[in-house]
Amino acid sequence: MEEFVERVLIPTAEIYQRLDELAQQIRKDFQDKELTVVAVLNGSLIFAADLLRRLPLPLKLDCISASSYHGGIESSGTVNLANLPDINGRHVLILEDILDTGLTLTAIQEELGKLCPLSLRVCVLLRKRKRRAHLVTADYIGFDIEDEFVIGYGLDYQEKYRNLPYIGILKESAREE
Ligand code: PRP
Repeated sequence: MEEFVERVLIPTAEIYQRLDELAQQIRKDFQDKELTVVAVLNGSLIFAADLLRRLPLPLKLDCISASSYHGGIESSGTVNLANLPDINGRHVLILEDILDTGLTLTAIQEELGKLCPLSLRVCVLLRKRKRRAHLVTADYIGFDIEDEFVIGYGLDYQEKYRNLPYIGILKESAREE
């Protein structure tokens, strides 16, 4: 295990197993639909790449960028979205790495909702168990996790550690660097 990791939370094999299950469910739900997948960068890059290769559907892929600034309290903050796709008349599945406060997903759902999709669903790899200021839900959830500082498999700390193949908890000492 890497020296900056406190412990492995979800090993790679477990992630892959869960992706198989999610893909099966999504495949069933969208098999006769015109599907556009919208991956939210940067965090969902690796998740989306692995999930989409398990989905034998004639889907379209769009990527949007979302960067959020969380204010002092969880209910505040703003989200900047870039590269909004053309989803008019499409069934849309948003892919996000993590649902934390819900700020980002709320903003994405609101903005994509204005672009006239036929339907809008959300798939998150991780959902933190916590009280959320933003009442947003996901239709597909990889794992429910505790409110801890997770890195790896796309998730970063100050833009580092996204390329870790598993999901781990970052050591306190690595956060103070
Ligand atoms: C992270 C993560 C989610 C969001 C979740 O994005 O990728 O998009 O925070 O947190 P929330 O539910 O509290 O909004 P970040 O803005 O760090 O950008 P990134 O995807 O490039 O890491």
